[in-house]
Amino acid sequence: SLTIGIIAPMEEELKLLRSKMDIESTEKLANFEFYKGTLDGVDTVLVRSGIGKVNSAVAAQILITLYKVNFLINSGVAGALNPKLKVGDILISRDSVQHDVDQTAIDEPPGKFEDADVIYYKADERLVRLAQEATKGLPGVKSYIGRVASGDQFVSEEKRRNEIISTFQADVVEMEGGAIGQVAYLNRIPYIIIRSISDPASEGGGEDYQKFVKLAAKNAGYLIEEMIKRL
Ligand code: ADE
Repeated sequence: SLTIGIIAPMEEELKLLRSKMDIESTEKLANFEFYKGTLDGVDTVLVRSGIGKVNSAVAAQILITLYKVNFLINSGVAGALNPKLKVGDILISRDSVQHDVDQTAIDEPPGKFEDADVIYYKADERLVRLAQEATKGLPGVKSYIGRVASGDQFVSEEKRRNEIISTFQADVVEMEGGAIGQVAYLNRIPYIIIRSISDPASEGGGEDYQKFVKLAAKNAGYLIEEMIKRL
């Protein structure tokens, strides 16, 4: 039967979903907490991966190899690059990119390593449609489909923000989704990123983040639960 892997970087981003799960066992692997059980009757393994591309990639591979999950959902918060996205809004990934990948000095396009096949890791179309459908369960929360840019930096400087927008036409920035996209691609496993906006990824955005991270984290969790109900 189907098993879902859900990756949430931080406790705030994880706790709503964990509170809705019937947990059968908890395991610590590579210093990450894995919660195995069911969510709305669906077999689920939820992991708190920690922040950043390496942590989320390791957690994703463990979910695939050891827990044999059939697809990956990444839950969390993000900074808005697209000005139409406001705090609490949801971004459903169409695809993702790693904005800090840079071999341009040896003639690779931004976001692509020499040995990689792609720049943009496409999210699973069926999961995107399911997420869109699930937004009906969250009236009053706006959601959009778009591009996630990930890198090992919290973006709050205008210069960096504008570079990421002009280079990748990304809608949100965060620190894990693109790495999970790459792991999913390498393993030929469907994936999707669900992020809610915590800050505008611009000057002073760190304060917005502190203020709104809880609200945003919950909205992402709620949408994922609505998706799973509709599986
Ligand atoms: N996650 C939430 N806000 C972010 C930002 N501004 N940059 C990177 N990751 C984030």
